[in-house]
Amino acid sequence: MDLPPLAAVLLLLAIAFVLYFVFATFVFGAGYQPAPRRVVERMLEGGAVGPSDRVYDLGAGTGAIVFRAARERKATVVAVEVEPIRVAILRLRRAFGGPRERVEVRWGNMFDLDFRPATVVMAFLWPGAMARLRPMFESQLSHGARVVSHWHPVPGWTPDEFDAETRVYVYRWQGSPSAPTAPG
Ligand SMILES: C[S@@+](CC[C@H](N)C(=O)[O-])C[C@H]1O[C@@H](n2cnc3c(N)ncnc32)[C@H](O)[C@@H]1O
Repeated sequence: MDLPPLAAVLLLLAIAFVLYFVFATFVFGAGYQPAPRRVVERMLEGGAVGPSDRVYDLGAGTGAIVFRAARERKATVVAVEVEPIRVAILRLRRAFGGPRERVEVRWGNMFDLDFRPATVVMAFLWPGAMARLRPMFESQLSHGARVVSHWHPVPGWTPDEFDAETRVYVYRWQGSPSAPTAPG
């Protein structure tokens, strides 16, 4: 089948955009894939997310976890995302759907974060990113903070809960900042 030149160019641009949108951020720690609804539900449940929590979503994507944590669980959420188009989508969702007072969108690299204020950390990332985050968690998380990860575990940690159906790992950190004690 012969495509007219303009259609061929548009098709190539569309393919290039999809490849960029999904795969380009692998070099930072993960590509793009939104967590399915039932996985988000399990992650919120596992993290026991509630109104007194400050949730950090590491690589917030387009907000699958962020807006449910803020709207349904009334948590305060820090959405950290490195890819600018997804950051724009997060900001639009925050502006038009809210809740603005409980969602903060940060354009940046999660490896530059300070996790001390977090009570819950959410992650749906590649194994290399989880390995790089582990020492940051151990030196910065406060006692009682929960780390909830979909698909990949925190290497070397023993989960307090693991749901095989949704592949959600839940860890309850028992150490304190700058005094690492691996749980489990
Ligand atoms: C698999 S998606 C998960 C999106 C969302 N958390 C969810 O569960 O629906 C991973 C996201 O992490 C982002 N990401 C990857 N490396 C990052 C980094 N170093 N800092 C911030 N965001 C990053 C990607 O751009 C992508 O949007």
